Amino acid sequence: MRFDGFSKIVDKDWIQDDVVMISIERVAEMGEIIPGQFFNIQASAAGYPMLRRPISVSGYDEKTVTFTVKVLGAGTKQLSEHRVGEVIKLMGPLGNGFERVKAKKVLIIGGGIGVAPMKGLIEKLEQPSSEIDVILGFKDHPYLTDSFRTRCQRLALFSETISGFRKGYVTEALEEWIKTTAYEMVYACGPLAMLRRVAKTLNEAGVPVQLLMEEKMACGIGACLVCTCKTKKDDFNFKLSRMCKDGPMFYGSEVIFDEN
Ligand SMILES: Cc1cc2nc3c(=O)[nH]c(=O)nc-3n(C[C@H](O)[C@H](O)[C@H](O)COP(=O)(O)OP(=O)(O)OC[C@H]3O[C@@H](n4cnc5c(N)ncnc54)[C@H](O)[C@@H]3O)c2cc1C
Ligand code: FES
Repeated sequence: MRFDGFSKIVDKDWIQDDVVMISIERVAEMGEIIPGQFFNIQASAAGYPMLRRPISVSGYDEKTVTFTVKVLGAGTKQLSEHRVGEVIKLMGPLGNGFERVKAKKVLIIGGGIGVAPMKGLIEKLEQPSSEIDVILGFKDHPYLTDSFRTRCQRLALFSETISGFRKGYVTEALEEWIKTTAYEMVYACGPLAMLRRVAKTLNEAGVPVQLLMEEKMACGIGACLVCTCKTKKDDFNFKLSRMCKDGPMFYGSEVIFDEN
C-alpha cells in the first residue's frame, strides 16, 4: 500500500542545531511500515524545490510516523521550517526496508544521519532472545542515542570533534568486534564510504549485512532511473538496480561499489 496525500505535523523537536525530528499523523492508507522504508516528501507548499525529498522513517507507532531531518540544502531547510499543525504532502512508505530475520547476535551500524533509520529499526527488532550490539559514528555531538542505549548490550560511540567519544571510523570497532563475536546479521546505514568498507569487511568474513543505500532521487517509485546502483546479476555480470524501488535495502554481497 502506498499513501500519496497530506498529513498533519503533530510534533517537532530540534535535537541539534541542524537536526530536527518531525512527527506526522499516521494515515490508515499508509498501511504497514517496515523499518528502512522512506517517504518522498514535498519540502514546501510553494512547490520549490520541485522534487520531493526522500526521508527515512526513524520511528512509528499506531498514530504517528517520525522523521529525523538533517538540514543540508534548500529542501531539507524548508522541510525543517514547517510548524506543528501544518500539513505536508508526502508519498510512502516506499522501497524495500530491512528484513528482520531471527538472529541471536545482531550488530547495528549507523553513521551520521544514517543513524535515523537505524533508530526506527532497533525500536522494532522484537526479538527478546537476540543480543544487539551497536556502533554509531557522528561528526559532532551524538544524537538519537537513547533509543539504542536502552535496547543494546554494547554501544560504541564515535565523534570526530567532541571529546569523550572514540575517534576514528566506525569500521574500527566493527573489525575489532567481529574477531570475538559471531554476528548472525548486521544492519548498516551511513555515508557511501562507510557502507563500502562495512560491506567489504563483512563479505570477507562471510557475515550477512543489510545495507540501506542512499542516492539522489526524483520520482521515488522506480520510474525515472535517476537512482541506480550496480548490483550482481550473476558471477560475471552486473545489472542496474533502482535504489528507490529495488532498494534502498540491499545485501552487502549484492552491491558492486565503484572503487574510489
Ligand atoms: C532513501 C533515502 C533516505 C534518506 N533519509 C534521510 C533521513 O532520514 N534524514 C535526512 O536528513 N536525510 C535523508 N536522506 C537524504 C536527504 O534526502 C537529502 O539530504 C536531501 O534530499 C537533500 O535535499 P536538500 O534540498 O536539502 O539539499 P540539496 O540542495 O538537494 O543538496 C545539498 C547537498 O546534499 C547532497 N545530497 C542531496 N541528496 C543527497 C543524498 N540522497 N545523499 C547524499 N547527498 C545528497 C547534494 O549533493 C548537495 O551537496 C535520505 C536519502 C535517501 C535517498
Ligand atoms: S528515483 Fe526515480 S527510479 Fe528511483
